[in-house]
Parts: sequence; C-alpha cells; structure tokens
Amino acid sequence: MTVLDIPELALVALVGISGSGKSTFAGRHFASSQVLSSDAFRAMVADDENDQSASAEAFDALHYVAGKRLRAGRLTVVDATNLQPHARAALVRVAREHDVLPVAIVLDVPEALAWERTEARSDRTFGRQVLARMSRDLRRSYGQLAREGFRKVHVLRGTEEIEAAEIRYERLF
Ligand code: GTP
Ligand code: MG
Repeated sequence: MTVLDIPELALVALVGISGSGKSTFAGRHFASSQVLSSDAFRAMVADDENDQSASAEAFDALHYVAGKRLRAGRLTVVDATNLQPHARAALVRVAREHDVLPVAIVLDVPEALAWERTEARSDRTFGRQVLARMSRDLRRSYGQLAREGFRKVHVLRGTEEIEAAEIRYERLF
C-alpha cells in the first residue's frame, strides 16, 4: 500500500494523461463535491464536456469555484490532465492566493494501456497522436512540478500502485 500524505486543507492537482484513471481515482478517494473536473465545467459552460473550444471559459469558472472553496477552508481536488505548466501555474496561483498548499498526485500508466481504455470509451474521440503528445507533456512535467510550487508531489506508477494507494490527512495545527 502506498500512503499519500496530504494536508487537511490542500489544493490537490491530479496529473495524468487521458485514460490514466484520474476521475476513477478522484471518485474513489474524495467526495464528489470536493472534486472539480474540467469535463464537468466544460459541460456547465458549453453543454459538452468534450468541447475543447470551451476550455478557457471552463477553467476560468473552475478556478473561481476552487478559490471560493479554498477561502472557506475546503479541500479541493482538480480533476484535469494538468499536463501543461500554464495549467498548473493557475492552480498554484489560486492556492497561494488563499494560503493553501498545492499538492500534485501524478498517475502514470503505460500509454498503451491508457489508449486501450480510451478506445473503449464512447465519450472520448481524440486520436492516438493526442495521447502521444500528452505522454510527452507528462515526461516533461516530472522535472517541473516541485519547482512550480507544488509542496508535495506524489507519483503513482502503474495500475497496481494506483489501486493500492490510500490518502492520509495531515493535521495542519
Ligand atoms: P480523462 O478524463 O480522459 O483524462 O481520463 P481519466 O484519467 O479521468 O481516466 P478515467 O478515470 O476515466 O479512467 C478511464 C477508464 O480506465 C475507466 O473507464 C476505467 O474503466 C479504467 N480505469 C481507471 N482507473 C482504473 C484502475 O485503477 N483500475 C482499473 N482496472 N481500471 C481503471
Ligand atoms: Mg476523467
């Protein structure tokens, strides 16, 4: 079992390519009200969780809600790929604005497995190249996360480690 220590009040960024199991992981370990997913926010602003042209508006709304939650002292989990520095920088900024620690949980599964899962889903229609690009972005992310301001970077490699992970909350005071 891998124990992930997380401050009681944190902004948790899940990081992983599509099909790595972020939403599944979020559903297993957190209450649905604690999880802000980019898919849900795209659906809210554009009626379509896959409408990538709605991403800017969707993330704007997501960051706004994250700020409201953190101000109220509520743990918040961001279920999005979070593979690009600018996406993560926005999360670190929101966390800092509210004196909350940003934490990253990286889910790293073989690209071939993620592709297999993605192909089996009717709600995902992007091509193999898109997933390959995400994998490249993930590789680059490793060296950057701590430097970007994430106070803890937990990395789960492979489905076994992901499935066996448990969250343990650290008391802040
Ligand atoms: P995107 O939302 O596209 O970025 O993907 P995601 O990272 O949220 O992946 P998601 O949690 O939706 O998982 C994709 C599929 O993989 C799911 O439909 C599950 O069938 C399968 N899956 C996810 N996590 C696990 C896991 O821990 N174990 C197993 N066996 N299957 C999993
Ligand atoms: Mg998902």
